[in-house]
Amino acid sequence: RRPIAILISGRGSNMRALIDACAMPDFPARIALVLSNRPDAPGLEVARSAGLRTEVVDHRPFRGDRAAHERAIDAALRDAGAELVCLAGYMRLLTPFLTGAWAGRMLNIHPSLLPAFPGLHTHERALAAGVKLHGCTVHLVTEAMDEGPILGQAAVPVHAGDTPGQLAARVLEQEHVLYPAALRRHLTRDATAETEPTAGPLLFL
Ligand code: GAR
Repeated sequence: RRPIAILISGRGSNMRALIDACAMPDFPARIALVLSNRPDAPGLEVARSAGLRTEVVDHRPFRGDRAAHERAIDAALRDAGAELVCLAGYMRLLTPFLTGAWAGRMLNIHPSLLPAFPGLHTHERALAAGVKLHGCTVHLVTEAMDEGPILGQAAVPVHAGDTPGQLAARVLEQEHVLYPAALRRHLTRDATAETEPTAGPLLFL
């Protein structure tokens, strides 16, 4: 089983989905570290209760020195023996130092069907754009934000009258299916049918 690290900033529900996946006997990864840039991230407690090693590398003492903050993160990742990093609601932009150090070995989940709606407030923007199909993407992290090679996507319908919160919840449910499936596929290139995200109809009127 390949040792992975998960980077979070908040709630950690995608981290939870990865924890659950790693608890399955045939899953090809184990979690060597959960790291947060925020000491108050609720996900930290979830990770601790699951018996996982956690670390906080607070960005604030670095006073805007992103490179120094990332060097500290990189050291923690290496110290934990991580071979791959999953960003799971990690809400800081990365510099070329960290993306370069982990090139091909850093995954992110983003709450839209990239390349549509990179960045923040994806559900509000999807509703404002009037799209009928929305979803989430797991991709490799590169220098350009939300632009790396796409490893997997899951789509959901946008319903008439959806609020951003309702749409976010519908997408999040698929994020929790997609992320473990995409990670498994990336590590083994042999995802089985039951770990694939359930494909729904792709035409929504
Ligand atoms: C998720 O919806 C994730 O896709 C998104 O933040 C949420 C984190 O929730 N990530 C981004 O927007 C990255 N730019 P979680 O902490 O419950 O996993």
